[in-house]
Amino acid sequence: MNGASKSTTIRDVAQYVGISVTAVSQILNGKGDRFSDETIRKVQEAQRVLNYHPNFYARGLVGQRSNSIGIVIPNIMNPFFASLVLSVENAAIPKGIFPQVFSVNGFHENIDYFIEQFISGTQKGLILAAPGASQEIVDKLAISNSLPMVLTDQADLSGNYDMVLIDELKAGELIASHLLDLGHTRIAIVLPFGLTLNLKHRFDGYKLAFKLHHVAVPLDLVFQSNFDPSGGVDAVERIVETDATAIIAINDDVAIGIYRGLSAHHKSIPDDYSVVGFDNINLTNYLTPRLTTVEQPIDKIGEQAVQMLVGKMTDPTAEHQSVILDVKLKIRDSTKKLEM
Ligand code: RIB
Repeated sequence: MNGASKSTTIRDVAQYVGISVTAVSQILNGKGDRFSDETIRKVQEAQRVLNYHPNFYARGLVGQRSNSIGIVIPNIMNPFFASLVLSVENAAIPKGIFPQVFSVNGFHENIDYFIEQFISGTQKGLILAAPGASQEIVDKLAISNSLPMVLTDQADLSGNYDMVLIDELKAGELIASHLLDLGHTRIAIVLPFGLTLNLKHRFDGYKLAFKLHHVAVPLDLVFQSNFDPSGGVDAVERIVETDATAIIAINDDVAIGIYRGLSAHHKSIPDDYSVVGFDNINLTNYLTPRLTTVEQPIDKIGEQAVQMLVGKMTDPTAEHQSVILDVKLKIRDSTKKLEM
């Protein structure tokens, strides 16, 4: 039976033999001494039957490059994560360390390739910012090798890791309180499908603000959408049918879509709707009216993550550290007092 398929992945080989992805990668990388001859034979048979060829990009980079680190992000198209990569580069390159970007972009098989790459030893440390991918990478690499890792943002996994995070609860409370202080109570909230742990803390912050202002959380005005401008446009189609007077977007990217959607409905910001975002990405400088948002300390996140990672690459036995960074509310022109 030739189960060959052009997209055969290391996961398929692992499932065929009934062992882990990590074990398959070690055997195929010539590091399978701890496995029986029978297991090695089965892996070689599976590789032949499934016509599996390891990711040549990964193979081509197998080696002992001592100055390369990996940064794993959910989606390079999201301006926040693009800025995170830049801040890591700005902190790492002067130290003679060269980050390599691994963007999951929603393709689960990419994670298999990334894990194979990391096991091959090309990267000497990892900065993880993607949710599901990071849990798999942490679980799998914890078995096979002690690659130093620093977790940040959407890789906020409960557990004992080196982490650089922002105070999401305070940040969520800050931006929601700004609207409540302006007299808004019917506030729509636009969230992505499925909240990562850090975004759950941010939503908890929104809810805390309502509680501190003795206003019921408008659960009927919580909308879920894609995590990009298209999600903002779609959410507006539903929001304009409600009595909302303000809108909280989970990030600036979604807020950009909200601007577009409200414009299509000939609605004014802030006269008809006050709108706030999160991140303070560079694009917010080109929105009219200028967007009220929360500024993430993106440069500091990169600096702290690289500093923590270099520390662990130097001394793997160093204690785990967890840093929580503060944020800033940037009040601009997209919000105004509710006129009764
Ligand atoms: O734009 C992406 C958003 O999700 C940011 O707020 C960042 O914190 C990530 O978690």
